[in-house]
Order: sequence, then C-alpha cells, then structure tokens
Amino acid sequence: MVLEAIRYQPRSLEILNQLKLPHQTAYDEVKDSKDGWHAIKDMRTRGAPAIAIVAALSLAVELQNNRVSENAEEVGAFIVEKLDYLVTSRPTAVNLADAARKLKKIVETASKSSDNNGQAVVKAYCDAAAQMLISDVSDNQGIGKYGAEWIEKQAGGGQVSVLTHCNTGSLATAGYGTALGVIRSLHANGKLKQAFCTETRPYNQGSRLTAFELVHDNIPATLITDSMASALLRLKGPSEHIAAIVVGADRVAANGDTANKIGTYQLAITAKHHGVKFLVAAPRTTIDLQTRSGEDITIEERPGKEMTFIKGPRFDGVDVDLSHSETVSIAAKGIDVWNPSFDVTPAELIDGIITEIGVVEKGKDGKFDLTMAMEAHN
Ligand code: MRU
Repeated sequence: MVLEAIRYQPRSLEILNQLKLPHQTAYDEVKDSKDGWHAIKDMRTRGAPAIAIVAALSLAVELQNNRVSENAEEVGAFIVEKLDYLVTSRPTAVNLADAARKLKKIVETASKSSDNNGQAVVKAYCDAAAQMLISDVSDNQGIGKYGAEWIEKQAGGGQVSVLTHCNTGSLATAGYGTALGVIRSLHANGKLKQAFCTETRPYNQGSRLTAFELVHDNIPATLITDSMASALLRLKGPSEHIAAIVVGADRVAANGDTANKIGTYQLAITAKHHGVKFLVAAPRTTIDLQTRSGEDITIEERPGKEMTFIKGPRFDGVDVDLSHSETVSIAAKGIDVWNPSFDVTPAELIDGIITEIGVVEKGKDGKFDLTMAMEAHN
C-alpha cells in the first residue's frame, strides 16, 4: 500500500482521515472549499504542506463540478474570496497563505486577459493547484537528499540514529515528507541505524502517524514519550547515540526562528545542552520573509479537549478490539487547560535549515540569511 494523504484527479478529491489512523485507513471525500476548510480545521488532514494543497484542491474540485460564470473577472473574484476563506482555517502554517497568494496572482493575471472567459480562469487555477501536489513531492525528495548528505558528512561515515518530532511524512505532505523524508533518505542510503520518534502530545502525531509510517516502510524505529528526549540524548550506546534531531516547520521567519509542533523548542534546548545537531527540514513554501522573527508568528490554540480526552480502540486489559473505538477522559474534570498547538524555536538553537535546494547554515555573524534561498522562489 502506498501512503497517500491526498488523492486527487480532476473533479475528485479524497483525503485520508488522519483522526482514524493508525487503526483505520478511511478516505473522506472533499467536495468543495467548505469541506476543505472543515477537513483542515478538524485536523482530518494536517501538516503544513498538506493543508495548503488540500485547501487549493478543494476549491479546484468545487470549480470543476459547478457551473461558473462566463465572465473571467467574476470568476477571478469568486476564487479570491474562497481563497481568503480557506486561509482562515488554521493560522500558523504559512504554506496555506503562501499557496493562496501565488494562486491569486495566477488568477488575477488570467482574469485580466481579454482573451479569457470564466472557464479559462478556472483552468489556470486548477492547473496551478494540481502542480502544487506534484512539486511538493519533488521538493521533499530534494530535502531528503540534502538533509541525509549533511547528517552523513557531520557524522563522518557509518550509520546514525536520529530523533524526530510530530509527523512530517507522507501524511503531512503530498508524499515522502520533510524531516521524515530525511530519515527515509538515510535509510535508503543504508546510513540509518535507528529512528526515534516522540509521541507528540497532545494530538499524538508521533505515535499515531509517524510510527505508522515508519512501521509501514520497515524503517528501524523506536517510539518515546516527549518527556524521554533528554534521557535519550544522554545515552551513548551504538543505537541510541543520537547524531541529530530533525524536525519540520510550519513557518520559518526571516531570521530563522521556526514555529513547529509544540515540544520542538524543548527538543532544541536539550539538543544544545547535549551537543547534538538540531535541524529544521522545510520546503521554501514554509519560509516567510515577511515575518521578521518568531515574535510575529501567530500560534494557534486548540480546544482543551485534545488534552483531556483520548480516543482509541477498546482495551480490556488483555486484548484490543479494533472494531470499537471509544473516547476516554484522562484529566480531572474542571481543570483549566492551555493547549498551544505550536511553539517557536529561536534561530540561535538551530544548526541548519534543510530546503529542497540545499542546507542553509549560519554565516560568520551567527545568523541565517534566508534571502538567497528565496531569490528564485516566488
Ligand atoms: O498540527 P499539525 O499536525 O498540522 O502540525 C504539524 C507540524 O507541526 C509539522 O511538523 C509541520 O507542519 C511540518 S509537516 C511537513
């Protein structure tokens, strides 16, 4: 089975419902931008690149399956309005806003051309949205290649173990993955000793999704709780010695400060303390030069229920019944809850930013210069 979070062909979009993983592999149909908005908000689809692509394609299928005006400018205005709506679904990952900005530009140009009718604007939009799905996979393969080479070089040959956080794999992207793409490349090169993945509380993207991908691909892997990371970094055994921590990103600010899944910041601190390399793997669609530093990144807060309840198959103490899923309260009723979905890791704790065109390292001034990496990217 190929792991596919997004299944698209003209007029049809399906997403793998990530709330049901790892116990059930079920696809939900997305018929229009409203369905797309809800799939993203409810986290049935998640991960910065996947969010952007599902949003873009949800509007593509809406346009393909409904009558549109003959008037190019009217269609252009309709698309822009829907893109603005889709961007409101989740605030932290910049990929969605970046995709909307690029698509608006294409639509504005197409709707202003005197040769174009409404259908031509729809075609320009849908072609560009479909291309995002294709480009994301090749970007991730580039990230995997450059990231694996960098880690192998730093480690000076031999096999390495790495730790990752959250889910950044095929389920979070159009395929292959970013940080998990680096792990896939290391494994493909025969250079991976062991991958460690955190559980990633409270939503458990690590234990539910990353662990699922690692098992699926037969990659040697171990699951730890988030609170075990520092203890793991102290180990020096041949399998446990961690050469690098590699994480994804939801938004990389111009100075390199990086918003990613809650818990990333504490991993970067412990990496620094233990002298372990800390790398961010992200396509350039995640780099946001308009945001000067992490201070300016909006951090999404999610419902407290994500922390106070867990959902899973029934367990009678001996057997797990996969056919029955239940929601269980795991916190004292009435407790106040703070549930930020992301945190910001300051650039000073990051050793390199792995993109599809190479690894950006700090200059002599100890600062990242991301403008060069972004020059050819619009
Ligand atoms: O809340 P999520 O599951 O959408 O958060 C996902 C992450 O934080 C990922 O690390 C990030 O989006 C990069 S995915 C390639």
